[in-house]
Amino acid sequence: MEIIIAENAGFCSGVDRAVKMTEAELAKGGYVYSYGPLIHNKQAVDRLEKDGLITIDDYSEIDEGKIIVRAHGVSEKTIKNIEGTNLELIDSTCPYVKSVHKKVADYYKDGYQIVIIGDKDHAEVIGINGWCNDSAFIVNEASEAYELPNMQKSCVVSQTTNRLDKFLELSNIIDQKSEQMKLFNTICNATKLRQEACIEVSKQVDAMIVLGGKHSSNTIKLAEVSRKYCDNVYHIETIEELTLQDIQNFYKIGLTAGASTPDWIIEEAVKVMENYNNGEVNNGEVNKDEVNIDEVKNVEVNNDEVSNDEANKVEVNNDEVNKDEVNNDEVNKDEVNNDEANKNEMNNDEMMKAIDSSFKRISRGDVLKGIVLYVTNNEVMVNINFKSDGIIERSELPKGESTNPKDLYQVGDIIDVYVVKIDDGEGNVVLSAKRVEFIKDWEILEDTFKNEEVIEVEVQNAVKGGLTVLVNGVNGFMPASQISLSYVSDLNQFKGQKLQAKIIDFDIQKRRMILSRKAVEKVQTDKKRKALWETIEVGSMLEGVVQRLTDFGAFVDLGGIDGLIHISDLAWFRVKHPSDVLSEGEHVEVKVLAFDKEKNRISLGLKQTKEEPWKIFLNDYKVGDIVEGEVVNILDFGAFVRVIKGVDGLLHVSQISNEHIEKPSDVLSIGAKVMVKITEINEEDKKISLSAKEAVETENIEEKAKDSPEESEVAFSPTIGELTKEKTETEEKPEVNVEVAVEKEPEVEEEPKAVEEVETEIKLEAEENSEE
Ligand code: F3S
Repeated sequence: MEIIIAENAGFCSGVDRAVKMTEAELAKGGYVYSYGPLIHNKQAVDRLEKDGLITIDDYSEIDEGKIIVRAHGVSEKTIKNIEGTNLELIDSTCPYVKSVHKKVADYYKDGYQIVIIGDKDHAEVIGINGWCNDSAFIVNEASEAYELPNMQKSCVVSQTTNRLDKFLELSNIIDQKSEQMKLFNTICNATKLRQEACIEVSKQVDAMIVLGGKHSSNTIKLAEVSRKYCDNVYHIETIEELTLQDIQNFYKIGLTAGASTPDWIIEEAVKVMENYNNGEVNNGEVNKDEVNIDEVKNVEVNNDEVSNDEANKVEVNNDEVNKDEVNNDEVNKDEVNNDEANKNEMNNDEMMKAIDSSFKRISRGDVLKGIVLYVTNNEVMVNINFKSDGIIERSELPKGESTNPKDLYQVGDIIDVYVVKIDDGEGNVVLSAKRVEFIKDWEILEDTFKNEEVIEVEVQNAVKGGLTVLVNGVNGFMPASQISLSYVSDLNQFKGQKLQAKIIDFDIQKRRMILSRKAVEKVQTDKKRKALWETIEVGSMLEGVVQRLTDFGAFVDLGGIDGLIHISDLAWFRVKHPSDVLSEGEHVEVKVLAFDKEKNRISLGLKQTKEEPWKIFLNDYKVGDIVEGEVVNILDFGAFVRVIKGVDGLLHVSQISNEHIEKPSDVLSIGAKVMVKITEINEEDKKISLSAKEAVETENIEEKAKDSPEESEVAFSPTIGELTKEKTETEEKPEVNVEVAVEKEPEVEEEPKAVEEVETEIKLEAEENSEE
């Protein structure tokens, strides 16, 4: 036969404290009274009574001595009454029960209807009710909860030894009866832990022995939960009640004990069973020195095996609980059983600390796993294996305040929670689910940062110095200098836009995240640049965007590399400034004239992408044609007349008129239209000679021939008025008859610049810029 003793069996810290306080008072001498049985264990009480303790139910007839209020506590009125007598009050109310008294008193004062879930005849429940003037509704069954009247504001607490499943079931019903409900899970964690260990052992054994008073509430509940998992459960006060033959056929026997069962009763039971097992039947004859209860508490509780359902019904999955921390026996021995306790000098605060130390420790900022215990329209109650449960208010839900908690969680869900505050002032831990999500988001972003990944950001606003952006719900900042490789003058244009960016600075502690779109552009540009250099050839046609204009040309972005169109390569005609031909931002097609990969330089031509005007001219015109041209330049020896855009011919002063002209500007002006005859085309030198007087003569002869063919041979001398309409109309110049020889002045046409020349200009410009 193997005997397994469940953890947390026996005295809880509250009972242990009450017993030790009593023993200390008995040691001092004098009359020591216990107001009601000190604990729910006859054998333990018998021992104390042998040492002098007197158990009473009515203190009105005694007038001296000390009266001990037991761990269950009493009403406020009883405390005041005792204080009004000559008796010395020794209050051994468990500090945890006292905290329930306080809650009830505070909420009662605030107008809440107190509801206690528990046994109305239990001393603890009677005591709690005494802190709201005995006005509480006390319910212990679902049917009783259904009979409750509707309440505007209810405050619900539980008997500390209640079963969690019952508490939750009845709370649900009370919630439906309440417009506003404040729910406090006041089930003591020592009870939870004892029940949990009891379940684990019950599952493993053939028979379960539950040691404790027949009227002990928590022992009765241990027997109840054991029966759910084990068919053979024996609830006994001492081992003497058990007929050992009953258990002889079991291979494995489990043992647990209620909160009021002293260690010596457990040790006695173990010893008797072991002796029986060894063939020595000596009921009750136990040498206690031979049994060490700590040594036989050998059960290894595997909490991972507790299913959610089981946890919901009865207990809480204690995945994160360190058993060493929650073993109340150790607390009893190491922290409570000391000189101070024996001398009854341990005050409530110290006791609370001792109890607290037996539970899991948590700190603000911790992220924990918890089990959803209860969900209302406004909050979620979560068990986090702490002495108190945690509350997630609606505002701390992941999807914001507009979401109903019931749409997100169900009882039994295992969720991650963030500890905002250890105590909200009402004993509950303030939790947040939203901040867990937030932390997760930051952790994801930290990975994104480390992996240099590109992410999508949404621009929220343009502020001084940059853009505020949102990345997966997290705020970040993009400095103006990181928005683009190009200069950005107006930040507002990005408002509401989604941009590709990289995180370039990240501090999870300071919650700081700096982003760069420029970094993404640079990667793209580098790729394009590489591809461009691999394919570029002289003569190839490329598309680009005019980036900026300078006096000497235009820089064109070819997608990662800027090329230069020198001013002389902008057009076939003379260009005073590049802005005459191009504007910034304009898309253009250009021809590669030269490049130097080492120096990252490309020389481009724009005019080379268009047909040369000279060729057009040769196609469309011949010697003898009369055309209307525009005077584009006037010199002393003649004027240049534009025949077509990009092709000018020389109208020599001698060819302007048959009349004598001192200088061309006497009769011509820039922009004037003039009829000229093409008298010579020099294809090699690309020069044209023009004559205005021949144009007029030819026209006159042709007109005369039409009017009277016989006079068609008569020569005419063109007048200035005939030469230029505008000039005659605007300036009343005397008509002169001038004969001029038309000769084309060599046109000053710039050759495409060599790469070296372009480089020098770029360098100069760069220097100028840097000086600026
Ligand atoms: Fe106190 Fe909890 Fe024991 S309430 S008396 S420590 S079961």
